[in-house]
Amino acid sequence: MSVYPIILNQTKFTHRDSLKYPYEERALQFGDGVYEVIRIYQGEYHLLKEHVDRLFRSAEAVKIKLDITHKELTDLLLELLERNQMEEDGKMYLQVSRGSAPRDHVFPADDVSANMYAYMEDFPRNVELLKNGVSTITHRDVRWEYCYIKSLNLLPNVLAKQEAKEHGGYEAILHKDGLVTECSSSNVYMVKDGEIYTHPATNNILHGCVRMRVEDFAKELNLPFKEEAFKVEDIQTADEMFLTSSTSEIMPIVKVDNTEIQDGKPGKITKQLQEAYEKDANITKNKINA
Ligand code: PDD
Repeated sequence: MSVYPIILNQTKFTHRDSLKYPYEERALQFGDGVYEVIRIYQGEYHLLKEHVDRLFRSAEAVKIKLDITHKELTDLLLELLERNQMEEDGKMYLQVSRGSAPRDHVFPADDVSANMYAYMEDFPRNVELLKNGVSTITHRDVRWEYCYIKSLNLLPNVLAKQEAKEHGGYEAILHKDGLVTECSSSNVYMVKDGEIYTHPATNNILHGCVRMRVEDFAKELNLPFKEEAFKVEDIQTADEMFLTSSTSEIMPIVKVDNTEIQDGKPGKITKQLQEAYEKDANITKNKINA
């Protein structure tokens, strides 16, 4: 199955085929909206509260008014799982736009309400990649200054990821002024001398939900978690590298451009963090080391 039949349209449940958007819709014309992608394991959301909280933070940052509370939205998303009788590993996409109104850069009148929809689809864990790691490229970070907002404006991310793909890579590691920020759709980390380095949670990166968890795991495992940006050239001597996101989980990086990270195999600390992740997400099927 791909997209499950029941979707959330505003605050109502409808069949996926009934979702229609007018051509004058701000998400379509301006990318004027925010979104979330939430992981589902064996029919249950992972990090639901973190994602809902971030959606509200993103909406507030771009001055989109949501006529719904955290609790109401959470309940609707839970009901969406139930109505679809979701029991598999999957993902949910949730989008909120500023609404539909005649095209004009300035915000529409106050009586135009935000548009929201959510749908879910199967998304099995990519156990092979999680086991063996992925190749990446480096790419200039040309994005704007508000990367902490999960905005629909993803053209620079799309272009970077496509470039990675065209070079046989899984992700593009972005860098600004010589410092690594994050990847096109994930956060990125370097392990050096037993310490985990990642860009601090500033405006220059998305504050990833999995990133938050990695910080917790590091504490539990007594691994120093250093929110210090590392340089592109530090990658040459990295002991391990990995990236994180709701869809990629904790993914080992074994190659960056032409540089193999250590011996081209996932590192020990990365594997420890993957194990902590599986435990935290109550994953019992399709485990990495089954
Ligand atoms: N992307 N950085 C960027 C730019 C992202 O787009 C994402 C997530 C992350 C990781 O965030 P989280 O751990 O909360 O998933 C970091 C999602 C998966 C996407 O756009 O498909």
